[in-house]
Amino acid sequence: MATREALWNYRNEFGDAFGRTYFRRFGPGVISSVGLGTYLGAPTNAVDDAYREAIGLALRSGVNVVDTAVNYRCGRSERVVGEAIRDSPIDRDAVVVATKGGFLPFDGDRPDDPASYVREAFVEPGIVDVDDLVGGSHCLAPEYVEWSLDRSLDRLGLDTIDCYYLHNPETQRAVRSREEVYDAIEAAFERLERRRLAGDIGRYGVATWDAFRVPEDDDRFLSLPEILARAEAAGRSVGPADGHGFEAIQLPFNVAMADAFTRANHRPASSTPDARDGSVDESTPVSTLEFAHDAGLSVFTSASIAQGDLAVPGAIPDGVDAELSGGTPAQRALNFARSAPGVTCSLVGASDVAHVRENVAAGTFDPLGAGAFDAVFE
Ligand SMILES: NC(=O)c1ccc[n+]([C@@H]2O[C@H](COP(=O)([O-])OP(=O)(O)OC[C@H]3O[C@@H](n4cnc5c(N)ncnc54)[C@H](OP(=O)(O)O)[C@@H]3O)[C@@H](O)[C@H]2O)c1
Repeated sequence: MATREALWNYRNEFGDAFGRTYFRRFGPGVISSVGLGTYLGAPTNAVDDAYREAIGLALRSGVNVVDTAVNYRCGRSERVVGEAIRDSPIDRDAVVVATKGGFLPFDGDRPDDPASYVREAFVEPGIVDVDDLVGGSHCLAPEYVEWSLDRSLDRLGLDTIDCYYLHNPETQRAVRSREEVYDAIEAAFERLERRRLAGDIGRYGVATWDAFRVPEDDDRFLSLPEILARAEAAGRSVGPADGHGFEAIQLPFNVAMADAFTRANHRPASSTPDARDGSVDESTPVSTLEFAHDAGLSVFTSASIAQGDLAVPGAIPDGVDAELSGGTPAQRALNFARSAPGVTCSLVGASDVAHVRENVAAGTFDPLGAGAFDAVFE
């Protein structure tokens, strides 16, 4: 588990090489504002080897955040993250490891017939109730979330996960009302509170693709204030001394997908008990980033360079590009994401060591100040 002492030691070892506010407060200490993601890539040994090297290099270069999920690359990403951390000269307690549960994972390869695989590996053994499944691949039932968390601990080969996310909970909206999804999230949070007390996870959060950035009237929308209220309720029912362990959210944020900053869609008052009885919440909405900042939640951006698209010269609009710091388009795109007010860390997926070098070097540039970031949108 990442500890205050090890995180600060890591910052003291690497901090001088980077620009202003490269290390930022999170959990028990500080973390790098560039993090390594492990989503993309084929489920092959060759990509495993590439990620092993990429993660090792990142950890030795000033990146101490690694993000994965139980289903990424058919479970191979979690295994490689664990191997790379164990093989690294960097202290495990100086690294924040985040993973996610929600999507049913394959085991090393994509099966020829995924539906049969899900039936035989999950439904028939009773790991998943077919009524809880959405799209044949997503489940938030509390028993399943705990099963998935155990699977992640096993695949990572670590004693503790520093940050455990529910993965794309908005997927459940395809078949459930918004209230039912909030209820499922609260039930899962209660389990995560217990696992936090047991020392299996440091803290937890919600990783989303659409939920927090779409308009309020979009079917996929979920209210961050309401989810925070559900975490507070889960904390009250389990009773940890610190209230609750809901500390982080993840959502896509980049030059082409800036909704978390530009769209005011979260109404702070919906976290009050009155608004949960079905009455209309008339409070003024604020953006995801503003709400998270005011509530003390850490924001991790995903797809920070639009899955590679923004690394292509000319992809960032000229007027925006001119305002950003960085020697290459990928660095400028990454620096846009980690300059947004309220962002703790921008995740960038990289299995290529040359990409890791380039992305780490983005952190040697100072981020934009809040005023300059606003000016990008004028
Ligand atoms: N809903 C969710 O929870 C969710 C969704 C998406 C992502 N995420 C997390 O966020 C992380 C980041 O998002 P992402 O991986 O989807 O997208 P991303 O970070 O925007 O882009 C990753 C892609 O960009 C390429 N790349 C990286 N650095 C580059 C550079 N300097 N120049 C050119 N190309 C470069 C990578 O190629 P190489 O592999 O060849 O280096 C990879 O194909 C993920 O890995 C995952 O951990 C979470």
